[in-house]
Amino acid sequence: MIQVVTMAEEHISALAQLEKECFADPWSEKALAEELTNPNAVFRVALIDEEVAGYVGMLHVLDEGDICNVAVFDIFRRRGVATALIQHLVDYAVENQLSFITLEVRESNIGAQKFYETMGFETIGIRKNFYDNPKEHAILMNKTF
Ligand SMILES: CC(C)(COP(=O)(O)OP(=O)(O)OC[C@H]1O[C@@H](n2cnc3c(N)ncnc32)[C@H](O)[C@@H]1OP(=O)(O)O)[C@@H](O)C(=O)NCCC(=O)NCCS
Repeated sequence: MIQVVTMAEEHISALAQLEKECFADPWSEKALAEELTNPNAVFRVALIDEEVAGYVGMLHVLDEGDICNVAVFDIFRRRGVATALIQHLVDYAVENQLSFITLEVRESNIGAQKFYETMGFETIGIRKNFYDNPKEHAILMNKTF
């Protein structure tokens, strides 16, 4: 069973490892730990049998949500972990009357784009050369409420 909990100190080292495995510019333990005390941060961790399977991070400012990160450990993929995490944010958005949730995803990351589409996100634009390492455009996706 997938359990979604608020990110806490005890998850930070596993999440920094997950970041390294997934991204060219990974968030460090320090960067992740800073979000523990950020009042705008909505960071949630998915656990399977008490083990960290994945996480999502969103910044909530006024009536907008901006997803910074979504990642799931390779061995736990295609089991609904990211779905549970994003559904948690969607429920949060409804409860807190957000107008929309937005996110950027690498143009080449078709798998993630397909995933976001299954969660009801739509492509609304492109941010040119948004990413480094390698340089790449970002697809901007949005879900309105
Ligand atoms: C993208 C990611 C978060 C998806 O996590 P996940 O837990 O495997 O996703 P789910 O199991 O909830 O997937 C739900 C549905 O989304 C779609 N989907 C998910 N991953 C997909 C992929 N790689 N290719 C195509 N469709 C995909 C499928 O429709 C899937 O349903 P199915 O398994 O019944 O076919 C995960 O692959 C990941 O961590 N990737 C590396 C990090 C990353 O790219 N993050 C996004 C940065 S913007």
